[in-house]
Amino acid sequence: MSFTKKVTTARLSYDGKELDLPVLEGDMGERGLDIRNLRQETGLVTFDPGMANSGVCESNITFVDGAKGILRYRGYDIEDLAEHCSFLEVAYLLVHGFLPTPSEYNAFSHLMNQHSMLHENMRHFFSLYPDHAHPMAILSSMVVSLSTFYPELEADSTEAIDITVSRLLSKLRTIAAFSYKKYKGDPIVYPRPDLRYCENFLNMMFHTPVNNYEPDPVVTRALNQLLILHADHEQNCSTSVVRAVGSSRANLYASISAGICALWGPLHGGANQRVLEILEDAMHSGASPKLLVEKAKDRNNNFRLFGFGHRVYKTYDPRAKVAKKICTQVISHLSHHDPLLDYAQELEAVALADPYFQERHLYPNVDFFTGLAYRAMGIPVNMFTVMFALGRLPGWIAQWLEQRDGEGGRIVRPRQLYVGPVHRTVAETLASKPYVHPTHS
Ligand code: CMC
Repeated sequence: MSFTKKVTTARLSYDGKELDLPVLEGDMGERGLDIRNLRQETGLVTFDPGMANSGVCESNITFVDGAKGILRYRGYDIEDLAEHCSFLEVAYLLVHGFLPTPSEYNAFSHLMNQHSMLHENMRHFFSLYPDHAHPMAILSSMVVSLSTFYPELEADSTEAIDITVSRLLSKLRTIAAFSYKKYKGDPIVYPRPDLRYCENFLNMMFHTPVNNYEPDPVVTRALNQLLILHADHEQNCSTSVVRAVGSSRANLYASISAGICALWGPLHGGANQRVLEILEDAMHSGASPKLLVEKAKDRNNNFRLFGFGHRVYKTYDPRAKVAKKICTQVISHLSHHDPLLDYAQELEAVALADPYFQERHLYPNVDFFTGLAYRAMGIPVNMFTVMFALGRLPGWIAQWLEQRDGEGGRIVRPRQLYVGPVHRTVAETLASKPYVHPTHS
């Protein structure tokens, strides 16, 4: 079923023929050319590397207006949700489409609590990874391993999906905290039934046999808010991967595991780790913000100012605005002062005043300030992208479910323009030059 409306048509003239293509309009007035009959009618495909001009689905989950800097989940502004909701409420909103009533929330929390443990055999996996293993690699492989322990997700009933969703949300938190303990070499801390989602995570991260962790309300609220900022962002790279993998009818765990791998890349969620590394390097080496900006502009240098720029936002990323506020609050609450925050703010000011950044509409994105807040909470740099994954999970799940239930169930299978050798044979190749075939050597 299609929800967009046809508002007009666009005429394509090609090869002596004319084709009327419907122009569709979404609920926020954004328009798209419907080219579903294009190849059949003309033999043409569209060519859009990076897919910057391609709408791949109808979606009722998240709306982004990149020109105005608006981000909404299910119609609610991100600032509104960050101010008034917990991460778990937003997760429920994304997956179910509406905010939970108190009894729905309690039932959801109960399910989350019940499914927060890992099978003990899975716990042993952690001891087998090398000490230097990146937590994103652990996260991805542990998530796909869940499908070996919890095969009922193969069932298609709503109940089985509900259990799978809470299981995944709850266990990802446990896996994330365990991977940190593995990295630290500390004993793991099991989830506790009396703690809420974010408190529980912080306790699993920071409680040790010799140091009782007392949840700090300011830090807990900040973590809830940061995870809300990450929770969904329409058809970004990792979400597109989750939907594409899901379109082959791969199970939810396999699809999310693939999404985690996509998020890991430094142009996507991995940028938060890069931002901190750049800031720390610059502070240590004494490089000024101006020097970093000059380096980012230098065409002979492949250095990019991570945490700046976005495919969709051509103004200040609304998530970055909230993240900057959270970051300042957490730092002043916990340590009163962080020279790295001063440096980041100076760097932001220098970049925003620079014509190169202005002409290309390069503003701070969500990853510019979130890492500084995570760092202030005591979360190590290599865990930053894990935090992003933890936040993005409800969005991935919602998008996977939407993909599964919509779009006529078609597998994602783009086309290409082939530019390689036209045709050759092995016999011709062997005759034309001395060539030792590997199987004959
Ligand atoms: N530093 C320096 N120059 C940049 C940057 C940057 N961070 N970002 C873009 N540019 C330049 C780029 O060189 C190009 O210049 P020109 O037109 O002269 O060739 C122009 O701006 C357009 O860039 P693009 O790479 O074509 O833009 P894109 O839409 O393909 O890429 C991006 C978007 C986010 C990958 C890119 O801005 C970038 O690499 N930023 C740094 C990485 C980063 O912070 N990623 C997190 C994104 S937000 C969270 C998320 O979604 O995961």
